[in-house]
Amino acid sequence: MQLTQAILPVAGLGTRFLPWTKVVPKELLPLGNQPIIAHLVDEALSIGIQRICFVISRGKEAIPQYFYKDAALEAELLKRGKSHYLEQLKRYDEIELHVVYQDEQLGDGHALLQAADWVESSSVAVLFGDDLFMGEKSGLMQLKAAAKLTKTDHGAFVALENVPQEQTHKYGIVTVDRAHPKNERVLKLKGMVEKPHPSKAPSTLGIVGRYLIPKSLFKTLEKIGKNSATSKHKEIRLIDALIHDLPHIPIHGVHCEGVRLDTGTPEGYREAVKIFE
Ligand code: UTP
Repeated sequence: MQLTQAILPVAGLGTRFLPWTKVVPKELLPLGNQPIIAHLVDEALSIGIQRICFVISRGKEAIPQYFYKDAALEAELLKRGKSHYLEQLKRYDEIELHVVYQDEQLGDGHALLQAADWVESSSVAVLFGDDLFMGEKSGLMQLKAAAKLTKTDHGAFVALENVPQEQTHKYGIVTVDRAHPKNERVLKLKGMVEKPHPSKAPSTLGIVGRYLIPKSLFKTLEKIGKNSATSKHKEIRLIDALIHDLPHIPIHGVHCEGVRLDTGTPEGYREAVKIFE
């Protein structure tokens, strides 16, 4: 699978973190010695992706700003002999950054559509900022390994976690066709349903913030967008495009190893901070 680009949709309003998010995007909250968003960019870099597109909303320009080269600051640090900080800043010199705006928060799929024209490779990685994987292998690493194992070029891969039964209404829940004979965590999917009530959930395997999606999925998102424009339901969701394309392309779930941290809620963020201490 050709994988050189990643999209990071970070245009959400972050209402659960108000009033902080009036001025500080939640993705810039600190985790360890860097902001949450830098952990995501590092994850993309760790699998060799250097072309990154942020989908932001007005007022969140500080997110790409964090990664831009600041020659004046670097010269000053050099003068003062602060090589440790200099090294940290230079880590992002190789990244090719692109920024697009999502002017209305019409869903995660709508956010991705804003980046559609930028996508050149046949597949693109998608990372949502609220989920972080702790462990030997990052979420993206595990998805990329699954793509290699299944020799799939035109399919999609989603990260999965076993979620508590009473929380299925917060996740896209999948049903499994079969496990890969060489890795029981790599699962060919046969169904997906968005946020089912616990009593109706077909399983407890929930989709969490990492995806590899084929370029063709953007056409489906566009189609869904056209239909949504004339309907009451205005959101364009990534899961709806995946459900639509499931009969036509192979979609695999990867039951990821490691611990997932949910930094999208103040409680989850506080837990994550403790882990990084
Ligand atoms: P959430 O649904 O958690 O929304 O989005 P949010 O705005 O970040 O947070 P709350 O619910 O208001 O507290 C999940 C991810 O999808 C992105 C968000 O930035 C977040 O990374 N997203 C969501 C967009 O970029 N655009 C959208 O229209 C919706």
